[in-house]
Amino acid sequence: MKKLFFLSLIFLTVQAYGQKFEGLAKTPPMGWNSWNHFACNVSEDLIKGIADAMVESGMKDAGYEYVVIDDCWHGERDEDGFIQPHPERFPSGMRALADYIHSLGLKFGIYSCAGYKTCAGYPGSRGYEYQDALQYARWGVDYLKYDWCYTEGLNAEGAFMTIRDALYEAGRPIVLSICEWGNNNPWDWGKDVGHLWRTTGDIHLCWDCEYDHGTWSAWGFLKILDMHEQLRKYNGPDHWNDADMLQVGNGMDVNMDRAHFSMWAMLATPLMAGNDVRNMTQETVDILTNEEVIAVNQDPLGIQAFKYDRIGTADIWVKPMENDELAAAFLNRAEFPMEFEFNWEEHIFIDEIFEKEFSFSGTTYNIRDLWAKEDIGTTNVVKSIKVPANDIVMYRLHK
Ligand code: GLA
Repeated sequence: MKKLFFLSLIFLTVQAYGQKFEGLAKTPPMGWNSWNHFACNVSEDLIKGIADAMVESGMKDAGYEYVVIDDCWHGERDEDGFIQPHPERFPSGMRALADYIHSLGLKFGIYSCAGYKTCAGYPGSRGYEYQDALQYARWGVDYLKYDWCYTEGLNAEGAFMTIRDALYEAGRPIVLSICEWGNNNPWDWGKDVGHLWRTTGDIHLCWDCEYDHGTWSAWGFLKILDMHEQLRKYNGPDHWNDADMLQVGNGMDVNMDRAHFSMWAMLATPLMAGNDVRNMTQETVDILTNEEVIAVNQDPLGIQAFKYDRIGTADIWVKPMENDELAAAFLNRAEFPMEFEFNWEEHIFIDEIFEKEFSFSGTTYNIRDLWAKEDIGTTNVVKSIKVPANDIVMYRLHK
């Protein structure tokens, strides 16, 4: 009896520490993050306006859930060490802001850093992890993006485990977004630590550029896509490869935005809008709220697409989905349009990692064009596929 008591005590102690909140991100998280468009220009008025616009624009109905304030919301720590929001930017305090966001049926996200400062130089969580986690829980935070600047001497896995354990101890289920840019192979250890991990340096607003910051680079959409490709075996429900926030609506051409959004859906990576959702063109709204494309991203199997082949300048990507369905995307990387005949019956898509096979010679699939939003026939008809310059054609195939 005594032995049993001690054994259960050990079990309970092990339970209380050393784990993440399971099941908070069974499909890739969807929401909005302030950084890509607003950088340090964050305030409670902005965040409330964004939350309102997420409801009014139809984004909430399309599945966007988290409203995440990235860097620069911070003020000082109080005399007891508790972090406070910037008094001028967030005069009503974070609890009031969280309550407002929750009242709209949305969830509230915040940002901190494993180092002693955030990347923009505000107070980081190093040495305050348990206290910060407690403060976030008191505020009603639902999502924490945790960054990696000013972390000299820290071990990444250990540092992220510390905040994981602190969040668990604070008792409020909070999604943990690991952001160390893929520097320490987070795909090897992140599954037990957080719900998603960034795979690369920051996304830059361009199709295929590298933007050199001196000690690090930010990357265009295609560069991140290519770097992300090899990581598909690590992706899955509750532990996602994070290809970074979306740049849709921030200034690229609409065809590029469409390609970028489609590929983030294909990758089963988080869909965190990064634009000013209070002022969107209809084209941007139509991209961000294309529910059929979003459904590909949110497919319960959570399988990241693989690159099947290239025809001319078009990469063919395939994403296995529930009920033996699949999505197929033809991404034209070039600045000129292309057109080709595609005889489905000559192709077999084989996913060796997730053990799926799609053969079109014996089985006929119906094809749904997810941007034209129309059924365009079946796979036993040879079709000509036209992909405009720097654009994409995306299909869902079902029997
Ligand atoms: C890092 C992150 C970005 C953003 C900034 C904020 O660069 O990778 O996503 O959070 O810090 O300073």
